[in-house]
Amino acid sequence: MMDRLAKKKLFIKTYGCQMNVYDSARMADVLAPLGYGLVDRPDEADMVIMNTCHIREKAAEKVYSDLGRLRRVREERAAASGAETIIAVAGCVAQAEGAELLRRAPFVDIVLGPQTYHRLPEMVARATRAGGRVLDTEFPAEDKFDFLPGESTPPGPSAFLTIQEGCDRFCTFCVVPYTRGAEFSRPAAKVLEEAERLVAAGARELTLLGQNVNAYRGAAPEGGVWGLGRLIRELAEIDGLVRLRYTTSHPRDMDDALIAAHRDVPSLMPFLHLPVQSGSDRMLAAMNRRHTADDYRRLVDRLRAAQPALALSSDFIVGFPGESDDDFAATLDLVRDIGFAQAYSFRYSARPGTPAAAMDGQVPEEVSAARLDTLQALIESQQRAFNEASVGSIAPVLFERRGRHDGQLAGRTPHFQAVHAEAPEALLGTVVPVRILAVAGNSLSGAVAVPPAAFAAAGLGREACG
Ligand code: SAH
Ligand code: SF4
Ligand code: F3S
Repeated sequence: MMDRLAKKKLFIKTYGCQMNVYDSARMADVLAPLGYGLVDRPDEADMVIMNTCHIREKAAEKVYSDLGRLRRVREERAAASGAETIIAVAGCVAQAEGAELLRRAPFVDIVLGPQTYHRLPEMVARATRAGGRVLDTEFPAEDKFDFLPGESTPPGPSAFLTIQEGCDRFCTFCVVPYTRGAEFSRPAAKVLEEAERLVAAGARELTLLGQNVNAYRGAAPEGGVWGLGRLIRELAEIDGLVRLRYTTSHPRDMDDALIAAHRDVPSLMPFLHLPVQSGSDRMLAAMNRRHTADDYRRLVDRLRAAQPALALSSDFIVGFPGESDDDFAATLDLVRDIGFAQAYSFRYSARPGTPAAAMDGQVPEEVSAARLDTLQALIESQQRAFNEASVGSIAPVLFERRGRHDGQLAGRTPHFQAVHAEAPEALLGTVVPVRILAVAGNSLSGAVAVPPAAFAAAGLGREACG
């Protein structure tokens, strides 16, 4: 609807983490009242926003090469129709490189950091005045969330909700404390209000987001503060909200109340992304993670005691400065001990301004590349085993979108496994029992395990039809 009414076209390209995905949607909300509607191609857009990521060198460099391409798109569009395109760079590269970015990419009109999205309309006005270029990478005193309007497009069945931003942990390899600033938790009442609105608009699953989400300490409605465990209990009361997830967590911020929520709250899904980075205590200390590998093992034991079905995911960095073969072997040991359902692993990337970039013992590229291959092979074998173990079972799947092929829907199991199955569109946004038939790459294929007649009888799918 919004798109048809819109007079101006907006294209947003999102890099990096889920928090950027959430922020991109909020930027679209802020610009909707100005008449901007989203399109999915940059060459028809009156405004293009690149919402960028600075976490590894490759991610940041990609932004510059994509910007070069965008410049040509803008020139061709201007030559063909005389139309102008506003180019804005948002997100973590904008925050980290600000003025440098304006210098390296002189055709960029607006550079804005993650905390100033609510000021976009004013920036657009300044940029459209002849020759106006705007740089706003402040960490303003006001809370951007207080200035963001409601959602301009309805959420899908699975929606993100940012509840916490920034990070005070200062892992020695990481740019996030610099690009996103100090930890800040949104007040619980605001989170509950947004959650209710999202559910009323059709969301069935909410993923609570924060750079260090389990450090959440939000002002409680009646004074005091709520941690994440308490917040989850309150959110679970919302009618129509059937699934809750949260990401990303630090092992040190996993408190008893949150572990208890995994035991007590049925809608809190039994899947947890809990980055550990390394299995070597020496590396963990150098990374300033402030826990040992055994602390992590014990924490996982406690989580599994609370929720025996819990499946785990993690992040790893190989080739951190000073990492020896023995350190790397300790990482492999940890992976074998825990058994992950999935995990991400990265070659260490030295980031400007972080303490690790100046450390001795930078690991040669061939060494870290070989370690990455070994680690990824182990993780993949665990993921395959985990997925294969679900073949033949019946899993409740929340159908979130159309599948790649006609007549298919795609969704996820409680363990976050992607599943596709033949299913009528009326089942979008509902949780349906699906028999898992086979592993197909990193996802699963299945068949709806309820005969079609039973859907009507049980009223299944009604919410999506209505
Ligand atoms: N806040 C989250 C995620 C931060 S970024 C957390 O605490 O885990 C996501 C992942 O990127 C990190 O977990 C880490 O594994 C990886 N990462 C961060 N900085 C990196 C760097 N300089 N080089 C390689 N990987 C990095
Ligand atoms: Fe970065 Fe560490 Fe903070 Fe995660 S906890 S965002 S890795 S500094
Ligand atoms: Fe990247 Fe910023 Fe997220 S650096 S991972 S977009 S917080």
